[in-house]
Amino acid sequence: MKTLIIITAGIFLFGMNSCFYDKADLIYPQTTACDTATVTYSGTVAKILGSNCNGCHGGAAAAGAGIKLDTYATASTYVTNGRLLNSMLHNGQASPMPKGGTKLDACTINKVSSWIKKGATNN
Ligand code: HEC
Repeated sequence: MKTLIIITAGIFLFGMNSCFYDKADLIYPQTTACDTATVTYSGTVAKILGSNCNGCHGGAAAAGAGIKLDTYATASTYVTNGRLLNSMLHNGQASPMPKGGTKLDACTINKVSSWIKKGATNN
């Protein structure tokens, strides 16, 4: 009798274990994978800078120490000298940006990085 209870309990526990829901990422694959392949200046980078940086670095904003990132031409200077990406990466090679804020998420930084690697064209 005792053995039967142990076997039944064993089967029950084994059964419960197989119901454990640990495959959610396989059943529902992440649909929001980071797309770094189709990045452009106008469609991607300008928007990223617009929503995260140009509050200080755009237009007549005075909080960005005179550094303007709201046009392709002005942003290019900081792309070429490496400071745009380094400031986003918080790698100690440039002042960490956004100033006083948290580092941008990896996907956003990867998009900018990908655009730069592809030649940082005005596309
Ligand atoms: C709250 C205002 C503010 C925001 C938002 C901001 N910056 Fe800045 N940024 C500054 C100021 C002030 C300086 C000059 C002082 C310094 O370097 O820390 C600066 C400097 C820089 C520099 C020159 C850094 C260096 O070491 O020479 C770069 C490049 C830059 N910012 C890029 C960015 C980018 C890219 C973003 C958005 C991801 C951003 N900033 C967001 C205020 C800001």
